[in-house]
Amino acid sequence: MGVKLLLADPNSEWLKEAADFFSGLCYEVETCSNGKRSQLMLYNHKFFATILNLEIQDHPGIQVLKFIKANYPSMKIILIMSREETLKENGLDRALLAKQGIVDVFIMPYQLRELQQSLEGHQSFEEIISRSKTREGVSAEEEVDSSDDQFMKVKIAEFFSTKSVQFDVFIRLREGKYLKILHSGDTFSKERIDTYKNEKKVEYLYFKKEDRIRFVRLQNYISEKTAPNKAVAIETKVGLIKNLAEVYVEGIYTEGLKPVLIDQGKALCGNIYEVVHNNSDLFKLLRTYSEKNNSLYAHSYMVTLFSSMIIKQFVWESKIVNESVGMAALLHDIGRTVQPAELKEMSPNNMTKEQLEIYKKHPEEGVKILNGYPQIQEAVKQIILQHHERINGEGFPTGLRSHKILALAQIVGVADEFVQIMVDGALKAPEALKKMLADPTCTKRHSAIILENFLKVFIDPGKSNMNSLTSKGPTKQSA
Ligand SMILES: [Fe+2]
Ligand SMILES: [Fe+2]
Repeated sequence: MGVKLLLADPNSEWLKEAADFFSGLCYEVETCSNGKRSQLMLYNHKFFATILNLEIQDHPGIQVLKFIKANYPSMKIILIMSREETLKENGLDRALLAKQGIVDVFIMPYQLRELQQSLEGHQSFEEIISRSKTREGVSAEEEVDSSDDQFMKVKIAEFFSTKSVQFDVFIRLREGKYLKILHSGDTFSKERIDTYKNEKKVEYLYFKKEDRIRFVRLQNYISEKTAPNKAVAIETKVGLIKNLAEVYVEGIYTEGLKPVLIDQGKALCGNIYEVVHNNSDLFKLLRTYSEKNNSLYAHSYMVTLFSSMIIKQFVWESKIVNESVGMAALLHDIGRTVQPAELKEMSPNNMTKEQLEIYKKHPEEGVKILNGYPQIQEAVKQIILQHHERINGEGFPTGLRSHKILALAQIVGVADEFVQIMVDGALKAPEALKKMLADPTCTKRHSAIILENFLKVFIDPGKSNMNSLTSKGPTKQSA
């Protein structure tokens, strides 16, 4: 059960869109399109906040507002309306409303994200969670019949919990049969996770796909808290981000890019930045890193992680740059999702000439998809468009050469090729990089400075001696 929110607006289409958006953010949403019913709902439920359109009819919005102030003075209220004049017509002005504790006033056009930010303005996600209902004790396990395609799974070893889980959690018994081990609002303590993991030998936890945004949001929150925490092992932090990134990319590739997912993607990139920048022992983990999973989801995550690691070595790196590259790396192969199913996870090395021609269109197809989302920056689209361009002109789709290719696109291109080599050859990360460097056709395709900086990813940043890996020393370089 989430934080209760009332949306009161005469436009039922907007109400539906807003209800979907806020439900995805763990709110328990009620909607109402007229004033009389809104007041009745306010009377019958205990809401944490109301987003009220002052122009609501059948009992005017101003009366609903007065009712709330008189009866629930601590309730958060956001006022929305189509025109500024509405305020004046109701004898109101912004200063007066602010004095009365109204959180915010929005005149159309406004984005749902703006309303969300305003609503959550001074509270942390933790505070929001702590306000939500939690059950006492442990709910009884419950067998559920449900088709497998409604679920997504994560490795139990890579799942982290907090006080209250905002979605149901299941174990799969057999095809179409699940055991609900946790109800939304239950506490899923580390001890309980360990019992399922160690005593009951459970390998995966299952969640309903409809809860994906809640899951992503919760894991992003936990990642944000753990990333700078020195007491948490680097393996734990990377496992959390991997799991989160894969579930995130799977959501985008199978269900489409919803605006709320774009925000969560930015948060995820911020968390990757924190892990990469605040954990000087990450290099140790990367030295033994290997991955055989060739799914587009795992691939996208790995390209994001290694792109961030390479960028860290450059003087011009910043959180903002990292966010653009992170989003581009997460979405770099989104164009492959509209290609024939048999090509989606096939390595280009195994494709026929005809299949390759289709495959080579995926950067442009990716940009075409993203053009429908104004929240995606132009820089992100350009990186995606150019991630297969190579400095010797052998790349695609345009065959651009050296400086005409964005440095950030070159970095994603290096990470992309590297991940493919690592997975195809079942190699450890440093072995895959060595293989790249030993191949003269490969070193002609990529910038020497980027490759050199990639090497530094595997070197202890605390040591000034770069051993035999590079002669230029560990100082950051520009591309
Ligand atoms: Fe690609
Ligand atoms: Fe790729």
